[in-house]
Amino acid sequence: MKVFVAAAVAAGLLSAAPAFASMELAKAKNCLACHAVDKKLVGPAYQEVAKKYAGDAGAAAKLAEKIQKGGSGVWGTMPMPANPQVSPEEAKTLAAWVLSQK
Ligand code: HEC
Repeated sequence: MKVFVAAAVAAGLLSAAPAFASMELAKAKNCLACHAVDKKLVGPAYQEVAKKYAGDAGAAAKLAEKIQKGGSGVWGTMPMPANPQVSPEEAKTLAAWVLSQK
């Protein structure tokens, strides 16, 4: 699973990676404890995040960094803690997956 995602990223096939693979990654990395695709939990719904950054070319890099380091102030007062269990490659995969939600 991890190897598959890493290989997909390395091959530049990120956007072609099956959606379920990234969903599994989000689950494995505990993202879904605070997020859902279609409704607000502790953090914003991933569909809302995708809507907010539609057309923002720098969004994927920005969100990948925030996924790793955490941050606050964009969606409310609740901060997102850092996620040190996520590698830079995984953060990119997750950011791209979040931004692809409709
Ligand atoms: C402890 C709860 C928690 C966990 C775990 C968590 N998040 Fe978050 N997330 C939040 C909160 C709260 C925000 C809103 C932060 C803000 O307003 O800036 C957020 C915001 C975000 C955003 C939008 C950031 C922005 O600046 O617009 C993305 C993307 C995101 N999270 C992805 C993830 C991913 C991927 C994971 C798993 C690696 C994850 N989150 C794990 C609580 C969490």
